[in-house]
Amino acid sequence: MKNYSATNLAFIFSLLIISLVILFIFIVDTLFNLEANWNYIFLFTGLSFIISFICLRILLFSYIYNRIKLIYKTIRKRKRGKGLDTVKFNRNKDLIKQVDEDVNLWAEEQSKEIKKLVEMANYRKEFIGNVAHELKTPIFNIQGYALTLLEGGLQDENINEKYLKKIEKNINRMIGIVNDLDSISKLESGQLSLKQKEFNPVNLCHEVIENLEDVIKEKKINIQVIKNYNENKNIIADKERISQVFSNLLINAINYNNENGNIKIEFFEMDKNLLVEVTDNGIGIPEEDLPRVFERFYRVDKSRSLNTGGTGLGLAIVKHIIEAHKQTINIRSSVNVGTTIAFTLKQA
Ligand SMILES: Nc1ncnc2c1ncn2[C@@H]1O[C@H](COP(=O)(O)OP(=O)(O)O)[C@@H](O)[C@H]1O
Ligand SMILES: [Mg+2]
Repeated sequence: MKNYSATNLAFIFSLLIISLVILFIFIVDTLFNLEANWNYIFLFTGLSFIISFICLRILLFSYIYNRIKLIYKTIRKRKRGKGLDTVKFNRNKDLIKQVDEDVNLWAEEQSKEIKKLVEMANYRKEFIGNVAHELKTPIFNIQGYALTLLEGGLQDENINEKYLKKIEKNINRMIGIVNDLDSISKLESGQLSLKQKEFNPVNLCHEVIENLEDVIKEKKINIQVIKNYNENKNIIADKERISQVFSNLLINAINYNNENGNIKIEFFEMDKNLLVEVTDNGIGIPEEDLPRVFERFYRVDKSRSLNTGGTGLGLAIVKHIIEAHKQTINIRSSVNVGTTIAFTLKQA
């Protein structure tokens, strides 16, 4: 029997008691040769059975079951929060089993919650650690240059302008980091609302390239924009955010490229979307790092990124933006051959 309800338990116990009573009467009857009237005995035992069944059932309910019910109520209250609770349990079902099921369910929910909290706490710790680490370098640089200037460097015309420019460069780096942090925290907490409108992505791409002209010239990079369809096609998206996507991808394609390297930005039509591919023939990414490059703060080679001024947030931001638009992004790369990042945009 799997259902240990009060009724079933009372029935079993009563049956047991009555069997014992009959056995007892039978033994007494044969031992002392009383020649008892078995009709009365059966009537008596039948009545006793009913009485004992009723008594046992009431006892079980009022004594044990009420206590279990108390535990059950407490668990329910804890599970659902105070005030919400109206405990209903099935009297004909096994209450202990119900409690057991509820406790298990509750424990499972709790352990899930705890796991989530631990993950969040770890994420915060890691995030703050990374932020502090990123900001330390430019802050110490600025401190160093400022001290040198204060300790007489200001009068030295050979270095004063140079050091002020270095200070400015480090401040710009800090602004970049803070902007990236602002973007990633908004994107990750889902606070960002997209301001979608219609615009031409090819034109936007040219604008971004123009803004990066200095670095492109400095590194003698050759950039091509190729549109693989005839008419002009517009997309619907948040223009500022897509500009951030182009800019982050192009900066990577420049930074992780060799001098005189090539960058190609291709636009394809694909059903209701446009497919954009940013390809460079730079240093590439090892296969084992590829799945992780979209993680925040992840860099293939930390020392290399520090030289190029990256925070490790660029691709994480790009992926968040594309996914916020319900579009997809992926990366292919091989070391010393180059990297292609492909993403889709929704056609207007
Ligand atoms: N076009 C690329 N070519 C080679 N490596 C790249 C390219 N884009 C990204 N990476 C690698 O992926 C890492 C993560 O990129 P990203 O999130 O933009 O951070 P970072 O601030 O370091 O540029 C980079 O540190 C770099 O190692
Ligand atoms: Mg980057």
